[in-house]
Amino acid sequence: MRRHDWAGTTALAATIGAAMLSVVLCPTRLAADASRWGASYFPNVALTTQNGETVHFYDLIKGKTVAIDLIYTTCEYNCPLETGRLAQVQELLADRMGRDLFFLSISIDPKHDTPAVLKTYADEFHAGPGWLFLTGKPNDVELLSKKLGLYSRPNRDDPDGHTPMLLIGNEATGQWVKDTALDNPRYVAQMIRTWTDSWKNAPTPKTYAEAPPIAITSRGQYLFTTKCTACHTIGRGDRIGPDLAGISSLRERGWLARYIAAPDVMRNEGDPIASALFAKYKTVRMPNLSLTEAEASDIVAYVDAQTASTHGPNPK
Ligand code: HEC
Repeated sequence: MRRHDWAGTTALAATIGAAMLSVVLCPTRLAADASRWGASYFPNVALTTQNGETVHFYDLIKGKTVAIDLIYTTCEYNCPLETGRLAQVQELLADRMGRDLFFLSISIDPKHDTPAVLKTYADEFHAGPGWLFLTGKPNDVELLSKKLGLYSRPNRDDPDGHTPMLLIGNEATGQWVKDTALDNPRYVAQMIRTWTDSWKNAPTPKTYAEAPPIAITSRGQYLFTTKCTACHTIGRGDRIGPDLAGISSLRERGWLARYIAAPDVMRNEGDPIASALFAKYKTVRMPNLSLTEAEASDIVAYVDAQTASTHGPNPK
């Protein structure tokens, strides 16, 4: 599955990489184009939502604040975390979602990601009003991707050729910014809120220091907070993935370290627990987040400590 997707994505990313390069090399053309970021810049291609409705891209963004990212549901690397982060931002901005704020997650694998597949995926991330998962004709999606410039060439660190970037924009005011889609969700939410509320007067937050700080005391906690909380809680119930409280009483430590470091490998090897978990959680895959087994063990130690402080000591 991954190999097949990679081939398609590589070709697409190479095309887009070339398009982006031409933008970098032609700064004057870019300046001239800047005035055209509107109806004539964004293609009004037909897309289909996860609910099977036909919509048009420019109509979706016209006069609105939007956050746009490119995904594909079979991604085993960053996209699931990216979508999980966006789900956190959605919760923080629930009062605006579907009113003047919209999220558009566009699939770059339209062949596999039918509206029905996207619907299951959207439901698993608890996508609410105003968050559309879109698919379309391959050529239209490719054109859109080029215009949005959200790809990079595949490389060793990013094997699927997909840069987890979020394009945030206010079409009415012509303000657009690209941010990493893996950013602190509170920072992203604050930036979007500023733009939707009163973009003219309120300052855009400029530093991470302005986002509420998280006290970090260990590597395990840092990694858990930045890489896992979009999808897991410790003792607060299942989220997009299972609640991890007491996980080391349920699974063997060696298995946990290997699984957290390379869940894709374990699924592909047919590991029975990994396969059963994936079957239960349907379309969302526990992603490979490029962690070492030592880092995974630190995370497990942190989860154990949190479990003990919320539930008393682990039975093991
Ligand atoms: C995008 C969402 C997402 C992120 C981010 C994520 N996970 Fe998961 N995780 C899942 C899903 C979904 C499953 C269920 C298995 C599947 O569908 O592949 C899972 C399963 C697990 C399991 C197995 C639970 C069991 O019952 O054995 C562990 C352990 C785990 N994740 C730990 C982590 C850790 C640690 C991190 C951070 C480094 C993390 N996950 C990041 C979605 C995620």
